[in-house]
Amino acid sequence: MKILGIESSCDETAASVVEDGRKVLSSVVFSQADIHSPFNGVVPEIASRNHALKILGVIEKAIGDGGLSEVDAIAVTEGPGLIGALLVGISTAKSLAFSLRLPIIAVNHILAHAYAPHLTNEIPFPYIALVVSGGHTLLYRVDGFQQMTRIGSTIDDACGEAYDKVSKMLGLGYPGGKIVDDMAARGDENFLDLPRGLRDDERDRYNFSYSGIKTAVAFRLKKKGIELPIQNPTESKTVWDVCASFQKTAIDLLLRKTKNAVTDTKINRVVISGGVAANSRLRAELAKWRGVETYMAALPYCGDNAAMVAGRAFVDFQANRISDFSLDAFSRLSALKKGKRAPRKKH
Ligand code: KG4
Ligand code: ZN
Repeated sequence: MKILGIESSCDETAASVVEDGRKVLSSVVFSQADIHSPFNGVVPEIASRNHALKILGVIEKAIGDGGLSEVDAIAVTEGPGLIGALLVGISTAKSLAFSLRLPIIAVNHILAHAYAPHLTNEIPFPYIALVVSGGHTLLYRVDGFQQMTRIGSTIDDACGEAYDKVSKMLGLGYPGGKIVDDMAARGDENFLDLPRGLRDDERDRYNFSYSGIKTAVAFRLKKKGIELPIQNPTESKTVWDVCASFQKTAIDLLLRKTKNAVTDTKINRVVISGGVAANSRLRAELAKWRGVETYMAALPYCGDNAAMVAGRAFVDFQANRISDFSLDAFSRLSALKKGKRAPRKKH
């Protein structure tokens, strides 16, 4: 079964044809990063307009010479994401499905990210999934594609969001994750002493917090008498050192909370996905874990792409789970990424 996937939730316009949930026949991603970078973040209206401009060209490239006649179903990201951006993909997908009389499958963006490692790996259940991107930082216990239980999340900023904010603070540009990751490789990770994020107590064993770490970077710099902006930041030793210190703290927090989940559930299998799964420290540290099977999304499928949408749609279609469009779409400031925390127990 060949599924055409369409993704337009943020600033990537993407289309892909995937056969039987695993065989990626094409994956085309048009990134708007250069368009948004002067604004140091994604401007929703500009994103929507550019999706409208690019979407048919991207789909055309993805379907190639075979055209739409070989496609058996259409899948599209229904949310969460920027509503105007999502509507471009959804309307295009609905029109195609309607005119071709094909089934349409609505796909949740986070479930699509979580599926991405399955495109390139044979992964048995159960496992602990870490989905970490610019909008989300989530831990799941996964017992099957339809049995995913959220066990933790960020209570404020997402990890990728913190990378983007630190990058902006240092004058390194948007999107910041890859730049900060590259700069970190040249710096001293002990330059700044940063808070480790949330405690490992009962309430927050699987939760994350990034807002305080990002703010601490600004305070520590001020305390050291370092003035921002730093001229020619990519060549500054101070910037490399700040990036290395932030990266160590940000990634160690992800690893620590994931380890808590592994220890408590005794599920010795970890799967990571989302834009931040491309991070070099996260991948290197995870690869060192002994006694735990680790799987990572392949680099082309970490950031937003449509292969993960078509892949996830296949397993939903097989399970007869063709969701209606709930249009459960909201901005990055949504409640979804905020963990609901029980009050701390009084002793
Ligand atoms: O999954 P994605 O493309 O979009 C969302 O759904 O948010 O993730 C984008 C996020 C951005 O915040 C970006 O800075 C971050 O992933 N990112 C990274 C790296 N590459 C991308 N963060 C840390 N290290 C990286 N190498
Ligand atoms: Zn995403």
